[in-house]
Amino acid sequence: MRAPVEALAAAQRQDHALFDRLVAWQRTHGRSHLPWQHTRDPYRVWLSEIMLQQTQVVTVLGYYQRFLERCPTVADLADAPADEVMALWSGLGYYSRARNLHACAQQVVARFGGVFPSTSAELQSLPGIGPSTAAAIAAFCFGERISIMDGNVKRVLSRALGFDGDLAQATNERALSALAQALVPADASHDEMTAYTQGLMDLGASLCARSQPQCLLCPLSGDCRALAGGTPDAYPVKTRKLVRRFESWWLLALRRADGAVWLERRPPRGIWAGLYCTPVFGDEASLQDALAAWGLDAASVQWQAARKHSLTHRELRLLPAVLDVAAPLTPDAHGRWATRAEWAGLGLPAPVRTWLDET
Ligand code: ADE
Repeated sequence: MRAPVEALAAAQRQDHALFDRLVAWQRTHGRSHLPWQHTRDPYRVWLSEIMLQQTQVVTVLGYYQRFLERCPTVADLADAPADEVMALWSGLGYYSRARNLHACAQQVVARFGGVFPSTSAELQSLPGIGPSTAAAIAAFCFGERISIMDGNVKRVLSRALGFDGDLAQATNERALSALAQALVPADASHDEMTAYTQGLMDLGASLCARSQPQCLLCPLSGDCRALAGGTPDAYPVKTRKLVRRFESWWLLALRRADGAVWLERRPPRGIWAGLYCTPVFGDEASLQDALAAWGLDAASVQWQAARKHSLTHRELRLLPAVLDVAAPLTPDAHGRWATRAEWAGLGLPAPVRTWLDET
């Protein structure tokens, strides 16, 4: 790889051609009807960016709408009960986002009088807002001349610039960020920053896909070093591979005659943190021990088909079971009985909700 400084100079010499081409392409070929576009309201932009962090646009659309109907302003969100925020988020996954979202709204109210700060530096001081999300909000809402740097953008720019440093190393990440920043002209207008930022996202989500990029249609093909070298697929370079641990979880739904099931709040850290869930056991023996402790008959447990559920770092095999209970029972102090109508309004992990709804 060329030295970063040399590469930086080379990027600057591109005379902002890449910036201009991407702005023009976004305006003619990019997405223009997403509900969080054509607004400079940081509350709406922030909400969309957090939802879109690990979730696809098609999934986000309905959630975004419902969230805004229930919480039209950041103050409404700050005031909403935590359970309601979790319920609104239920199914979007990565629930720390929802907890941070709520905490962030409360800090915007407490620290900034209900008005989002207007620089990426200040935005980053809020919970759940990392450098790239802060850059997106600052560029879209305030025209800050700053480059976003999410996974898609790293791919687009490492290809365009032929940057082959291993992004598993922080120094290379920083070098690519510096190159990205050098591509933004010092006199870019607010509208240009909006189009450029959206253009990076749109290109990364369409033509510059991870595999089989459609270089023939790409507005950057004339400048793209990866294409010139014949190996766009080889970028970005990142050596560390994601390791998913395999685990089995036994889930037990205790069900009353009225259909209510016993739900417990998950611990504040870890998988499904803060959500409501049936009791979970790490092995079958623990489940049997719990049944014995509650005076329940293990022979009446109805086992159901196992389900697979993939998380970022875990491959879960869920082993669900149902046990109808007759006598009044309070298995432990930290749960509640919830009828079908009640659990519909609670924050439940998506696979648990699907299972209970079907059961
Ligand atoms: N992903 C992250 N931010 C986005 C946006 N503003 N539009 C579409 N996809 C996105």
